[in-house]
Amino acid sequence: MVDIHTHILPGLDDGSRSLEESVDMAVIAAENGLNHIVASSHGNCFPYSMEEYWEQFRNLQSELRNRQIPVTLYPGMEIYLDEDAQELLEKQELLSINNTRNLLVEFPMEEESQNICRRIAEIQKMEYTIILAHPERYVSVQREPELAYYLEEEGCVLQINAESLLGKFGTAEKRVSRQMLRDGIVGVIATDAHDSVYRKPSVRRVREHLSKYYPSQLIHLWLSENPSRILKGYPILDAKRDRIKEYKE
Ligand SMILES: [Fe+2]
Repeated sequence: MVDIHTHILPGLDDGSRSLEESVDMAVIAAENGLNHIVASSHGNCFPYSMEEYWEQFRNLQSELRNRQIPVTLYPGMEIYLDEDAQELLEKQELLSINNTRNLLVEFPMEEESQNICRRIAEIQKMEYTIILAHPERYVSVQREPELAYYLEEEGCVLQINAESLLGKFGTAEKRVSRQMLRDGIVGVIATDAHDSVYRKPSVRRVREHLSKYYPSQLIHLWLSENPSRILKGYPILDAKRDRIKEYKE
């Protein structure tokens, strides 16, 4: 399986704090069958340089190789889509997912829906595909879930957090993430792991949960096939049109 959203690189953002912790996270990921991981450190809201990113990236990848931990890292960032992001993208100071045209983006939790729609449209004009991180966590989506449906129609790939489905972030996140999944507008599930204890790169519990309601093909689509397509820059498969007819919940 492929995890397109993790904060596994040490010392760059509010994710892993040390190389040891990053290795622990990779061990957990591998035990969960997550063997391909995007190291999507928060981009423009933490003050590290591109050189520091690559140094940590190469360091961790070689440490994993030396310890024979079967996890391959891919570059990327979780881009904070504020007014400056467009300029930073033009200057190539932010990373897309694995050098494709796919950008993992986030907003402040309280961002207004008009700003979300406007900034996404501006970046889409630059011929990027927006992968919207955890839409279920935004207050505007919780108040008006229609916003997520609109964004999906406009070509955004919606990435929900595995643990939102289990209620880790609260009842609103749980309700909205489950609703979006049920309606077939979710493209991909990722862990958004930040550490090796509280927000781990683990999908075991969510797979158990999903398997009660969904066929294995759909679970595979969300956790493996679509994230793998995102890594390669291919279009994702649409759960709604292609697979949702098999949905049982
Ligand atoms: Fe994140």
